[in-house]
Amino acid sequence: MNDERVFETDAAPDCGGRIDVTWHRSAVAAADRARLLGQEPVTVWLTGLSGAGKSTIAFELERRLIAQGRLAFVLDGDNVRHGLSRDLGFSPEDRMENIRRAAEVSKLFNDAGLLVVTAFISPYRCDRELARAVIGADRFIEIHLCTDLRVCEERDPKGLYQKVRRGAIGGFTGVSAPYEPPEAPAMRIDTARSTVEESVAEILRKLAPGLQQKRYTS
Ligand code: ADX
Repeated sequence: MNDERVFETDAAPDCGGRIDVTWHRSAVAAADRARLLGQEPVTVWLTGLSGAGKSTIAFELERRLIAQGRLAFVLDGDNVRHGLSRDLGFSPEDRMENIRRAAEVSKLFNDAGLLVVTAFISPYRCDRELARAVIGADRFIEIHLCTDLRVCEERDPKGLYQKVRRGAIGGFTGVSAPYEPPEAPAMRIDTARSTVEESVAEILRKLAPGLQQKRYTS
């Protein structure tokens, strides 16, 4: 691991114009945590349609990283909507707030030294750009699961597309709400063409330069 690539994250972020809050600096530098854990924290941001395989790939990637002795954590859209974002729906404004919260949590987890894998549809380009800005461009790895709508709909793992076609769900991404694909993602994966194992292996290769060699077996 190259220490020069360790990010200093203890600068005060923009407080949104508030004058009644103060930023407190930690006495621990990001580099100290990176050294402790043997990893440069990044956020692997998976974006794509419902049914593209974001959660499947995210949890398999997390499992593989932990098996290698890495501290990793998945933030999954459906799961986050059970708690932190339980008050939000699927309007553009609510999705933006959902992604803002997810980005802020990812940033905190990265600051704590963890590798974060997110699985949010995050359909709007501007929301993903906000996430990139919050997390820091150097730590943000955007991966587009570019699987075709037709394939996602055939899979329909949660039966949602059927409900959408019956008219029971409105504003559904890819059908009745937009999905804006990333223009220059770090990686594109079509999960109709590659297996979960192949997809995860490709992402792991991308992460490898920031991970110290470890002799760890779970
Ligand atoms: S995001 O648009 O705000 O990023 P998020 O990833 O958190 O969405 O949640 C998406 C999940 O919510 C889908 O996988 C699906 O299970 C469920 N869902 C329910 N209603 C909708 C909808 N109208 N559009 C998209 N996903 C929906």
